[in-house]
Amino acid sequence: MSLTQRVSIIGGGGNVGAAIAYSLVVMQEPVEILLVDVSKKMAEGQALDIRDAAHLSPTQCRSGEFAEVGDSDVIVVTAGARQSPGEPRSNLIDRNYKILKSIVEQIQPIKPTATLLMVTNPVDILTSIAQKLSGLPKAQVIGSGTFLDSGRLRNYLSRKLNVNSQSIQASMYGEHGDTQFVGWSVATIAGAPMLNNPQMANANLKEIEDTIAHQAYDIIDAKGSTYYGIGYHVATLVKCILENGRRVYPICTYVDEYNTYLSYPAILGSGGSSPIHFNLSDEEKTKLKICADSTKAIADKY
Ligand code: NAD
Ligand code: LAC
Repeated sequence: MSLTQRVSIIGGGGNVGAAIAYSLVVMQEPVEILLVDVSKKMAEGQALDIRDAAHLSPTQCRSGEFAEVGDSDVIVVTAGARQSPGEPRSNLIDRNYKILKSIVEQIQPIKPTATLLMVTNPVDILTSIAQKLSGLPKAQVIGSGTFLDSGRLRNYLSRKLNVNSQSIQASMYGEHGDTQFVGWSVATIAGAPMLNNPQMANANLKEIEDTIAHQAYDIIDAKGSTYYGIGYHVATLVKCILENGRRVYPICTYVDEYNTYLSYPAILGSGGSSPIHFNLSDEEKTKLKICADSTKAIADKY
């Protein structure tokens, strides 16, 4: 059976790339997945392993070549170095910039309607650089941003408040890095302001924020890297793009007001992302500006 939509995952021989592909299989997404990696052997191994699961799903998975990537509907980049225990994501920029540059050169020409979805860290800075390198319209280049961190936050609050996380609207914004922050002023439980909830009355908001921002470090300390969480979150974004879902997610998107890419709520669909208008508190706006200025300053150096 031939499928009409294709997703290429560059870095698909690694843990994050494979977890995204596996999640798409579990989600029963009818799409052809190509795993592409500088290590062809790893890409082939992951593809064969995932294919063992994929026969129970409409998803198809195989290893592929760089030359096949440009024709994809969604191009996901997970290739690159990951953090060592205790190392901040920002340390990876030089190594991962070089890898990203070589990848973008190898996948040209890119189909004009494709969406390029960055996952490699530091993701917000590399999303900005990927847009410049690829020449794609800004809306069509996005990053996973703080979608994963926001999932971690909702998961935490769900357990604290004993409310299903699907009924909690609370997100991390700014950057998928150490300066991310919770948008408490716009957080709700099914539309009701979260901070009015009596169970939040004595909550230490700063401690919650720090716990979420630190969670990746805890996982990396314990098992070396994170991949299941990001795998499912990125697969959710890919599905939304393929199905033109028009859902709002906290992802890395270009925000005109700040003149840069930021982790910010955006509508996601087949044409990429467009940021929504929302009103943070003045203190939160200052935090957003700090993230915007630092992301832009670093991205502009490359
Ligand atoms: P990994 O080492 O398991 O996989 C990386 C893969 O990239 C390897 O298979 C490697 O061969 C491949 N690669 C390296 N250079 C390449 C090139 N030039 N072309 C093609 N492939 C190349 O690492 P991982 O755990 O999968 O992590 C990958 C990246 O994802 C890291 O930067 C990590 O920090 C990031 N990450 C991001 C998030 C997020 O929320 N954005 C979450 C988890 C991990
Ligand atoms: C995360 C990665 C390491 O799990 O960025 O947050």
